[in-house]
Amino acid sequence: MSEDKMKLEGDGKSIDLPIHSGTVGPKVIDIRSLYSQTGMFTYDPGYTSTGSCESKITYIDGEAGILLYRGYPIAQLAEKSNFMEVCYLLMYGELPSKEEAAKFEHDITYHTMLHEQLNKFFSGFRRDAHPMAIMVGVVGALAAFYHDSTDINDPHQRIIASYRLIAKMPTIAAMAHKYSTGQPFVYPKNELSYAGNFLNMMFAVPCEEYKVNPVLENAMDLIFTLHADHEQNASTSTVRLAGSSGANPFACIAAGIASLWGPAHGGANEACLNMLGEIGTVDRIPEFIRRAKDKSDPFRLMGFGHRVYKNFDPRATVLKKAADQVLKELKVSDPLFDVAKKLEEMAVEDPYFKEKKLYPNVDFYSGIILKAMGFPTSMFTVLFALARTVGWVSQWNEMVADPVQKIGRPRQLYTGEPERDFVPMGKR
Ligand code: SDX
Repeated sequence: MSEDKMKLEGDGKSIDLPIHSGTVGPKVIDIRSLYSQTGMFTYDPGYTSTGSCESKITYIDGEAGILLYRGYPIAQLAEKSNFMEVCYLLMYGELPSKEEAAKFEHDITYHTMLHEQLNKFFSGFRRDAHPMAIMVGVVGALAAFYHDSTDINDPHQRIIASYRLIAKMPTIAAMAHKYSTGQPFVYPKNELSYAGNFLNMMFAVPCEEYKVNPVLENAMDLIFTLHADHEQNASTSTVRLAGSSGANPFACIAAGIASLWGPAHGGANEACLNMLGEIGTVDRIPEFIRRAKDKSDPFRLMGFGHRVYKNFDPRATVLKKAADQVLKELKVSDPLFDVAKKLEEMAVEDPYFKEKKLYPNVDFYSGIILKAMGFPTSMFTVLFALARTVGWVSQWNEMVADPVQKIGRPRQLYTGEPERDFVPMGKR
C-alpha cells in the first residue's frame, strides 16, 4: 500500500516514513515505527490531524461539503433511496437487489421485539430521567439478555448482534419516551415500515387506531438516512476504541450513545433548539451572534461549526429544504424556523464566521423538523443515536474484521512531577 516516503529530521535524527494513498482524499503518513525509530510520540489532542484506521464506509470532503456513503452522495441517497437500503449499503458495501432488500427488511423487522424482562429495566428510572440516560443503560443491558450474539470472533454472531441493535433501537427509544409520559409501551407492528413502526410505537395509544402519516413517515426515514454514518466522529471513534479491547457489541454501542450525548456532538440538536428558543425573536439574533464571537463568553451558536466541514454540511442543506416542506405539509408555522433561517443568513455573512468557516451543521435544522413532528426536545439526540446505530455497527464490524487493527492505546506528553519519595504525614 505504501508509495512515497516523508523524511522527518530533528533531535539529531533523520527517518523516512511511508506515505499511503487512499481512493480519494488526503494521503496519510504511516507513523507506526516513529516511537521505535525516534523514541518520540506524535502530539495531537482531539486528533485534528490523525487518521485512526483505514475504512471503506464513509468519505467526507470538508472543504467541498461532500459526504459519500460507500461512494454514493448523501443528496442522491436522501432523494432516491430509503433508510433500510442505506443500512444494507453501509453494512455490506453495495446497494441491495430487490430480493436482498426484502430479506434484509424482513430480518430487521423480526428482531424489533425486546425480551419482555427488559421492560422491567425502565421502572428503575425516574419518570423524568433524560431518555439518553435510559438509552445508555438499556442498550448496555442487552448484553445481559442476548448471550448468543456477544462472541465477536463469530461472524454470524456479529451480524445477529448488528441486526438486533438496528432493529431494537427504535423499540427502546419509543419505550423511553412512553415511560416519561406514563403511557403504556407500544409493541412493534411487523406490517409497518421501519420509520412507520417507530412512529407508531412513539405516538400510538391503546384507546384508538394510530394511522401513520406518510409525510411524517417519509421525513423520519430521511432524517434516519442523513444521520446514519459520518466517518470517524467522536462517538464512532468511541465505539471503535471500546471494540478494540474485544468488548461485546452491546457494550460498544452503549459507549457510542454516551459519547454522542455531549452538546458538542449529537447533543447539539437539543441544545440548538433550546438556543433558538432562548433567542426567541429575530430582533435578538445580533445579541447572540455577538456573544458567540466573544471569547470571554462560553456561549457558542449550537448547530454551527464542524471539525471537518469548512463549507455547508450537505446534510443541513437537505434538512433545511425538508423542514420547509414538512412545516408546509403539516400546516405548522414555527417562529423558531424563521429565527433559524435569519440566524443562518446573518451568521454566514458575518466576518468572524466566514473567517473561521463556521456553517450550519446537521444539528441546526433537524430540531425544527423533529419539533414539528411532535417529538419532545429531549428525544432529539435519542433519534440521532437510533439512526447512527447502523453506522456504529458497520464501523465496528469493519474494525473487528480488520487484520491490522489492535487494541487502541494512545500515549501522552507527560508534564507532571518527576519521580519523588513519599512524604510522611509529620513532614507535609
Ligand atoms: C456533530 O464529527 C462529526 O462528524 C460530528 C457529526 C456527526 O455526524 O457525527 O457531524 C455530528 O457533532 C455536528 C457538530 C454539532 N456540534 C455543535 O453544533 C456544537 C457547536 N459547534 C462547536 O462546538 C464546534 O464547532 C465543534 C465542536 C462542532 C467543532 O469544534 P472544533 O473542530 O474543535 O473547532 P474549535 O472548537 O477549535 O473551533 C474553531 C474556532 C474556535 O475559535 P478560536 O479558538 O480559533 O478563536 O471556531 C470557534 C471556536 O471558538 N467556533 C465557534 C463555534 N464553533 C467553533 N464559535 C461560535 N459558535 C460556534 N458554534
